[in-house]
Amino acid sequence: MQTKGSDYVTIMEVGARDGLQNEPAILPVETKRALIESLCEAGIQRIEAGSFVSPKWVPQMANSDALLAQLTRKQNVEYSALTPNLHGLEKAMAARVNRVSVFSAASESFTQKNINCSIDESIARFSDVIHEARKHSLPVRGYISCIAGCPYEGKIDISAVVKVAQKLIDQGCDELSLGDTIGVGNPKQIKDIIQALQSIIDIKDLAVHFHDTYGQALANTLAAIECGIRTVDTSIAGLGGCPYAKGASGNLATEDVVFMLNGLGLNQDVDLHRLAIIGEQISKTLGIPYRSKAGFALTAK
Ligand code: HMG
Ligand code: MG
Repeated sequence: MQTKGSDYVTIMEVGARDGLQNEPAILPVETKRALIESLCEAGIQRIEAGSFVSPKWVPQMANSDALLAQLTRKQNVEYSALTPNLHGLEKAMAARVNRVSVFSAASESFTQKNINCSIDESIARFSDVIHEARKHSLPVRGYISCIAGCPYEGKIDISAVVKVAQKLIDQGCDELSLGDTIGVGNPKQIKDIIQALQSIIDIKDLAVHFHDTYGQALANTLAAIECGIRTVDTSIAGLGGCPYAKGASGNLATEDVVFMLNGLGLNQDVDLHRLAIIGEQISKTLGIPYRSKAGFALTAK
């Protein structure tokens, strides 16, 4: 993973996975491929290209292996994918990803709905996945969903987030991504969570992953950056949601974050105008309104 120092925020683009997994339309490989390649041409250096989960659970990701096989890759870009079990890991390794991700949550009910097991069972299952991935020198990201609230359980205690974070670190994850899956967190809550985690993980190994359901995602991202977070997950055109969290809207739009980072002098590498064109185009393809405010303003000019 590229670490660029404290004056640089890296974007982890998750639109092709977190975004598209939630769209009713299943996009053909060629469309996904064009999306990912154009995002990388625009300067994105970390991209979640797909997901090796059960196609019965998430049919939108079923063509991830064909997609990765056909992708023209850039040398300085990290291509990653979700792997819920060893079967998924085998497929991801065959598809030559640069990183895999496992995903648990700070909420029992969400974990049950999302991956059909308890938190402890998920960690046990991931332990094999992480061990095997590390054996092949693949870095592993651990997602923690529902850090600020759960669609089934309501408010989540910070201690639950710390507990699952510690387990994922103990198993060998080298990066954790903190997911506000239903977008209910506020900047104070986010700062408190990050502060609590700093005793168990280096801040450079933490990322944030905010959904924008209540319009708080950009404010929460800024709060996280002020705490020292330097990796932010975003989704082109604000695509997405979560199939197991009703009402969860898209992730924070990449365009909106890049606009803010440009202003803060924290990322000048990503071409915002190109992003806006890509965001408008993929929204058109999906037949949905273009939801990035910065992108909409730029393309309206
Ligand atoms: P299960 O039904 O409990 O387990 O699913 P299973 O082992 O009995 O498998 C069921 C069927 O799936 C079997 O097929 C398996 O072969 C197949 P059948 O025998 O019935 O024909 N299968 C697979 N096929 C392809 N690839 C695989 C795979 N594994 C099993 N890897 C399982 C358990 C974990 C597989 C399932 O629950 C699953 O795939 N869940 C995926 C859930 C998901 O993708 N959720 C969205 C991602 S998480 C998220 O969005 C949050 C995040 O963005 C952060 C945030 O916002 O908070 C990351
Ligand atoms: Mg998500």
